[in-house]
Amino acid sequence: MVTIRNGAMKDCSDLLEVYQGTRWFYRQRAGGYTTVEQVKDEHRGAVFERWGWLVAEQDGRVVGEVVFRAEKNPNGKIGVIRNLDIDVRYQKSEIGTHLTRAAEEVMRKKRVARVVATTPPAAYNYWMKVGYFARGSILNIKKSISQVPDRPTRAVKTVRVAPESKIPKSMRFSNISYPGLLGEVAGSIVDGAVKGVLLEFTSENKLVGVGAFSLGAKSESLFVADVTKRGMDLSDSVISRTAKAGLKLKAKTARTTIPKGQLSHYLKLGKWTSEDSTDIPVTRLL
Ligand SMILES: CC(C)(COP(=O)(O)OP(=O)(O)OC[C@H]1O[C@@H](n2cnc3c(N)ncnc32)[C@H](O)[C@@H]1OP(=O)(O)O)[C@@H](O)C(=O)NCCC(=O)NCCS
Repeated sequence: MVTIRNGAMKDCSDLLEVYQGTRWFYRQRAGGYTTVEQVKDEHRGAVFERWGWLVAEQDGRVVGEVVFRAEKNPNGKIGVIRNLDIDVRYQKSEIGTHLTRAAEEVMRKKRVARVVATTPPAAYNYWMKVGYFARGSILNIKKSISQVPDRPTRAVKTVRVAPESKIPKSMRFSNISYPGLLGEVAGSIVDGAVKGVLLEFTSENKLVGVGAFSLGAKSESLFVADVTKRGMDLSDSVISRTAKAGLKLKAKTARTTIPKGQLSHYLKLGKWTSEDSTDIPVTRLL
């Protein structure tokens, strides 16, 4: 019998075994998962919500987990499934389905109206089986920061936000940015995992946009810019100023990941080099 319960730090040693099976591709990319500490690190910090961690226990050990959070968007609250991993020895016995449903139940209680997940092609059919549908696609775009045009306008004021212990409330949000991404990038800056700059943009003292620019250990840059409903017509200023904040970090390239449907906001600043992501956004209404 499988039991679904809240996750706890002591589960991380079982989860290390789970990850070693499901996240084998990280082995080539980043040295893989070798220590329990690495797994623990993923379960603390600014982006991690304690209420958004469920595990599946069977035969006296943890064989799966789901991690999720919620953020605002102009239509209400959106739930983001950050990961779902089932021990390879226990896959296809409905544990993924149980965990997904349990996570949805927690999010429904938090008044989440829609859930999104980002799936690799190999797990796409799983999401279709549990009632999700594909929605749009993901683009990775980049441009040399020196090629990003300025959009000076007195209407928009840039305010630098000091990274404290939590993700700024204004950054638990997505509108034109990819759901969950602003929180992830802002959170890694707040936690000190990467160097970075956090920005808020206001017009007549009202929030019109937010931005985060991060620079990782190997000078890997990633920025995320977004606008509130009020700021929709100012997206080019917000994107330009966020991308250019990279100069303060001595970054050369402005790189971001966006929903393909939002590309027009970026094209207002000229051409970007773009590449389709192989990952697929999937979503379900609760
Ligand atoms: C994808 C994953 C979470 C599915 O978990 P699971 O416990 O095996 O899924 P379930 O047993 O609940 O499967 C539900 C249905 O989806 C199907 N299914 C599950 N994984 C599938 C896959 N990779 N391809 C096609 N169908 C799949 C099952 O056969 C089942 O169909 P049925 O109802 O007709 O029998 C698991 O394979 C996994 O951990 N993969 C690696 C990590 C990953 O990619 N996570 C998802 C990205 S967030």
